Amino acid sequence: MSTLPSGKPAPLAGIAKLAPYKQGKATLNDVAEPLKLSSNESMLGPSPKALAAYQASGASLHLYPDGSQQALRSAIAEVHGLDEARIVCGNGSDELIQFVIRAYAGPGDDVVLSQYSFAMAFVHTIAQGANAIWVDEPEMKPDVDALLAAVTPKTKMVVLASPNNPVGQYLPRAELLRLQAGLPSHVILLLDSAYADYVVAEDYEAGAALVEASDNVVMTRTFSKLYGLAGLRIGWMYAPEAVVDMVQRIRTPFNANAAALAAAEAAVRDTEHAALARDENNAELARISEALSAVGIDVVPSVANFYLVRFPMKGRDPQGAAAHLEANGIIPRPVNAGGPEASLRISVGRPHQNDRVIAALRDYVNA
Ligand SMILES: Cc1ncc(COP(=O)(O)O)c(C=O)c1O
Repeated sequence: MSTLPSGKPAPLAGIAKLAPYKQGKATLNDVAEPLKLSSNESMLGPSPKALAAYQASGASLHLYPDGSQQALRSAIAEVHGLDEARIVCGNGSDELIQFVIRAYAGPGDDVVLSQYSFAMAFVHTIAQGANAIWVDEPEMKPDVDALLAAVTPKTKMVVLASPNNPVGQYLPRAELLRLQAGLPSHVILLLDSAYADYVVAEDYEAGAALVEASDNVVMTRTFSKLYGLAGLRIGWMYAPEAVVDMVQRIRTPFNANAAALAAAEAAVRDTEHAALARDENNAELARISEALSAVGIDVVPSVANFYLVRFPMKGRDPQGAAAHLEANGIIPRPVNAGGPEASLRISVGRPHQNDRVIAALRDYVNA
């Protein structure tokens, strides 16, 4: 009789190497309702139509959702002018990023990650037993030449976020096309366009055109930001049919829940609310930048729903600024590890909330 091995259950080596994800701070001692500006959420919130659809979905919670996600896929296709067969919805766009990495990268493969891409892409890469190859963004946006130089015969995928996080800058269309053209056709270009809905720049490309023109580009999008549905966890991807086919094989049948599907469908159709959310965000971003720059704070230009601030003046630093904001009931996100050194990332809020941030940071600098 053979002897069975003994000992503790052994996790996969990649998974054991990882640290659990740390969410942005959400509470402050002694402040009942702090102003949480640490997670790039929408302070405007969802469309009232999305909220109504969410509430109506409560009447059928005993039923499984539509596993084919038909109604939401059709709505997204209609509003964005896309092909519904290439759309898959997920429990947040992070789930879709996970699916694509799981389907295409395995032990020994390389996944090239641009510096300011979403932290979970790294996690899934390592969990798969693949190698994460980090490429710096010295100009604070993806560096096409450096990404192309990092590609080797082992490379399965290149991942970048545009706009990136925590900076909020994007890769212009011409550069994106140059990157795609320079990649071997078997290497997937995973474009995380979580903040695309805020961008109005004419030279911005979220990725749909590249998906349609090639076999190796995947774009992921989310309802967590502009659409204000972060709590429901709903995102979507646009991908070549062969990639969709692979993702369908590992997707759990009801990964997008019924309430999320209903709310997101109403949200994407409410283009008026989306435009309002975008316009207010962008106007506020400009106003905040001007007000903070006027007192000497360095505000990194952003096209997303957050901004990075730094304190070039003597005796002031992000740690002190964070403490001062928190003393005023405001929670920013300090970004040191994995982000630009010594900065604070702050979500854009409603105008009266941004007034509080401006006033607190002015006080901090002038005190
Ligand atoms: C760049 C980027 N990508 C993806 C995500 C994930 O978004 P979600 O999973 O909520 O769709 C985030 C969330 O903050 C993000 O900042």
